[in-house]
Amino acid sequence: AQLAVLAGLNRKLYFGTATDNPELTNASYVRQLSNTLDFHQLTPANSMKWDATEPERGVFNFTGGDQIVEQAERHGQIMRGHNCVWHSQLPDWVTAGNFDNETLLSIVENHCGTLVGHYKGRIYAWDVLNEIFNDDGTFCQSVFFNTTGTAYIKTALRAARKADPHAKLYMNDFNIEGSGPKSTAVATLVKELRAEGIPIDGIGIQSHLIVGEVPTTMERNIKFLSETGAEVALTELDIRMTLPDTPALTEQQTKDYDTVITACKNVDRCIGVTLWDWTDKFSWVPGAFTGQGDACPWDNNFNKKPAYFGIVKGW
Ligand code: XIL
Repeated sequence: AQLAVLAGLNRKLYFGTATDNPELTNASYVRQLSNTLDFHQLTPANSMKWDATEPERGVFNFTGGDQIVEQAERHGQIMRGHNCVWHSQLPDWVTAGNFDNETLLSIVENHCGTLVGHYKGRIYAWDVLNEIFNDDGTFCQSVFFNTTGTAYIKTALRAARKADPHAKLYMNDFNIEGSGPKSTAVATLVKELRAEGIPIDGIGIQSHLIVGEVPTTMERNIKFLSETGAEVALTELDIRMTLPDTPALTEQQTKDYDTVITACKNVDRCIGVTLWDWTDKFSWVPGAFTGQGDACPWDNNFNKKPAYFGIVKGW
């Protein structure tokens, strides 16, 4: 069973994956990445981030991003753009410049406008804002917030809308899978922005989860976020475990993937799910969380794991 076989029965959701430029030199990897029976959508894991696209002020580089968009277009897969504004993978010049409010807002406007404009008509949705909240629902003390307050949020969204009026504009965050202060803060802000006429169309729930710890409130919370009027997508799904893998962990992971896919499917405006890479070979997890891994539905040798069939079951 493959996802698209079932996609015919479930036209409401797309299924996709992140990928990264160095991976595109691996022919077997690219063969599976290009398999539209599994993947209808791609996200670049790194090459559209600020450090890659505007390494020096006003100097733009779209080489890596273009390569991923071309890869997707060759197979009719849709694209999510990731991301316009984030405090990580931000080139030093943005912080080191100690720019005043007005200058930093013009930098944000130019970055978002140029990036989104470069891909005009070719991106389904953009993560315009990435990880702007702390877990307690307060705003992250980024250079953007410290300098402009919340003004940069509106500037980024307006610049993105102007640059590509048809792209869906998202706010993307982690630890908003289940109910809690962070999810509430995202919903409140999205409602406020929409009431003010600031363009925001979607909420991205990253979904970097842990085996056995899928929040019990996930489906209810996806519904809650969609009640803002925005659409919702699971944008960076992986379900990691503390290694080594055991039969019990494998079984739980299979159930967890099913649970997560089912939760999205059961909410009207949850419109798609993206894996944060499909194979353990290229997963970011072991590099980011010591001792953890095996988070993806395909193993190191590109073979499907039981987790894959958990996805198919939920689908
Ligand atoms: C990760 C990439 O996968 C890594 O290759 C990179 O070293 C760090 O960033 N949340 C996000 C993504 O929004 O951009 C991050 O991607 C994973 C966490």
